[in-house]
Amino acid sequence: MIQSSFKKLFVCSTAILAMGIPSHAQFPRAPQPKHYAWSDTSLSPDARADMVIKEMTLDEKISLLHGQGMPFGSQGRPTESNGGAGYSNAIPRLGIPAIQMADSAYGVTRGAAAGRYSTALPNNLGAASSWDPEAAFEYGALIGRELRNEGYSMSLGGGVNLPREPRDGRTFEYQGEDPLLAGTLDGNFAKGVQSQFVIGDLKHYALNDQESGRNAVNVNIDKRSMRETDLRAFEIALGISDAGGVMCSYNRVNGDFACENSYLLTDVLKKDFNFKGFVLSDWGGTHSTVKASHAGLDQEQPGQNFFGDALKTAVENKEVSEQEIDEHVHRILRTIFATGLFDHPIVKQVPDVEKGYETAQRLAEKSIVLLKNEHNVLPLPASVRSVVLIGGHADVGVLTGGGSAQVDPPGGSPVPPPPPGSNPMAAFMRVTWMPSSPLRALTAKLPAAKVSYLSGDDLAAAAAAAKSADVAIVFGYQWESEGMDLPTLNLAPEQNTLIETVAAANPKTIVVLETGSPATMPWIEKVAGVVEAWYPGIRGAEALANILTGAVNPTGKLAITFPRSDADLPHPKLVLPPPESQPNFRAAGADITAIMAAMAKGLPPFQISYDEGLKVGYAWYDAEKKPVLFPFGFGLSYTTYSYSGLSVTPGDTTAVSFTVKNTGKRAGTEIAQVYASLPAAAGEPPKRLVGWTRVELAPGESKQVSVPVSRDRLTVYDEPSDSWKLVPGSYVIRVGGSSQSLPLEKAITF
Ligand code: BGC
Repeated sequence: MIQSSFKKLFVCSTAILAMGIPSHAQFPRAPQPKHYAWSDTSLSPDARADMVIKEMTLDEKISLLHGQGMPFGSQGRPTESNGGAGYSNAIPRLGIPAIQMADSAYGVTRGAAAGRYSTALPNNLGAASSWDPEAAFEYGALIGRELRNEGYSMSLGGGVNLPREPRDGRTFEYQGEDPLLAGTLDGNFAKGVQSQFVIGDLKHYALNDQESGRNAVNVNIDKRSMRETDLRAFEIALGISDAGGVMCSYNRVNGDFACENSYLLTDVLKKDFNFKGFVLSDWGGTHSTVKASHAGLDQEQPGQNFFGDALKTAVENKEVSEQEIDEHVHRILRTIFATGLFDHPIVKQVPDVEKGYETAQRLAEKSIVLLKNEHNVLPLPASVRSVVLIGGHADVGVLTGGGSAQVDPPGGSPVPPPPPGSNPMAAFMRVTWMPSSPLRALTAKLPAAKVSYLSGDDLAAAAAAAKSADVAIVFGYQWESEGMDLPTLNLAPEQNTLIETVAAANPKTIVVLETGSPATMPWIEKVAGVVEAWYPGIRGAEALANILTGAVNPTGKLAITFPRSDADLPHPKLVLPPPESQPNFRAAGADITAIMAAMAKGLPPFQISYDEGLKVGYAWYDAEKKPVLFPFGFGLSYTTYSYSGLSVTPGDTTAVSFTVKNTGKRAGTEIAQVYASLPAAAGEPPKRLVGWTRVELAPGESKQVSVPVSRDRLTVYDEPSDSWKLVPGSYVIRVGGSSQSLPLEKAITF
């Protein structure tokens, strides 16, 4: 019931087809697989899976329940592996294809080693600023298509952890702080991936909200908080996508590792969420055989420390029943049938580079958020004579996020990454730039102006150049990667100094930020404009130039709050692991397989208490009455909007309708947001997002829009009865352009 209403609200397949996403018929055709009894597509995926299982030996079954090592590990790899992070066996005699897995958060990874191209899209948190489920589908479909082109059959993207710790080095891979927004976008992402007959994945399940000590940490959190926030995002994403895979995370939750946590895997995911696909462990995140199997882990990745011979022995010793093995196998086979992988074998072909560029730019234009625009310093007028770009390697590229999500830049990083040295993890964590040059893009957009670049290393030179230019644009950045957290949301001190110096020299100073998390802005009062560009991808500079010059009117709105300082976060200090809880990469040498094995042994736990509970993101700042730098849902446009005429009709689906007017001189798209404040008896934070819509408006135009709010958006999780309840009382529906600009409100009673 809950799932189908999410589907209705947020997935519009006709609109998606109209956007020109390739239909399945356009796939290159593979030779038809040999005909087996289970080739009959009129049978259900479950029936087909069961037919295969009847033919399988125990060894064949076990061979599906683990990976085959990393492509560059000491265990070696079958030659059939396509070189991605994960691989699970084919069973050729039964026509069962291998599952070729590749990381693909913002594009297909590991291209360089194989000499392949793939499109780097704007990073996930950036793209979430579009609040656009159709764009999220298109994003996923592009990744699915390129995975298939490159010989992969499963995405390892789909990160949807909420930023309880926004300094998490993977915040850039996630979808922001609100479970409805994040779950809706991630669900459409995975649905897009699966539209290409490629298995989609949601990760990291669950509460892997910081990188520091991720393999050891024990997260303490109450059930209600996790059900309503972190797990809710997964639930919504699953309801929309029917993703074939869910990756359990490295950390412990309330005592048990996530990959052997029966509450998370069986009670919630498989029973309550009705997940039909398979659970695979994060890489090295399996820690046991019998316990993990009983708890609901279906596949160990990347190797077979626990789900290889040890699992077979456990079956022989009757510690794990064959029926349990069959259930794991069923989930994997079922997914191969349900996603179309069996019926549409992968055929490699060269990715459509041009199409990728075009999509990447359009999505980046929807991602960029205009945060400050004093005296309309933006858009840059065609009459501007001189613009100086300062810092951030804006002459050659835009920043990308690192770690397993790293998309390799075509032609290599234009700013050479530091040498990896002897630490094997450093190979994953190299500051990498995409060859999309803001200098070149802006020069092309402003043919009558002199556009120049300065590194900003010399402060006096930067000030002098800023003084003599009409407009100065300083590029601030913060690099993020898996495997690390940011010590602070502050930019590096030298960047803040550079911004202050330039701002003091030219009142028309604009700051462009390339960050994967919120940034603090001690200079905010001194600059005229701020543009958050995130890690904008292979066409990031072109998108940015269109925004800066007004060729594109910005529409992006923040999917994450920008706090004023670290001190305002729920956990002002990052909780760091004690030394014994950190994997010793150096002891494991350069061998990734050895590192995974060391991690699998399990490190002594340390504790984090997410005692902010339900107060994630804006809920925290609202409840604690902490002023913020820029609120959730905020973003400016080159036009303005007004709201009027709210009407709310309560019901099973509450009808919320109102009018949005474009009160400015440019066409634009407003992201109109609907929040609800629950009755005091519900014990909830002050408000929650319950819906939104994107409204396209010509200058002066008004439109009446409606946002249906399904009952489940208003319910709370009741732990004693393990159910969702609508608390009787007065609900206030609030409508406006950001979580802190809600001019319309109306009370209703349930
Ligand atoms: C990451 C996962 C990733 C996997 C395979 C792990 O370190 O946490 O997100 O999918 O590696 O590369």
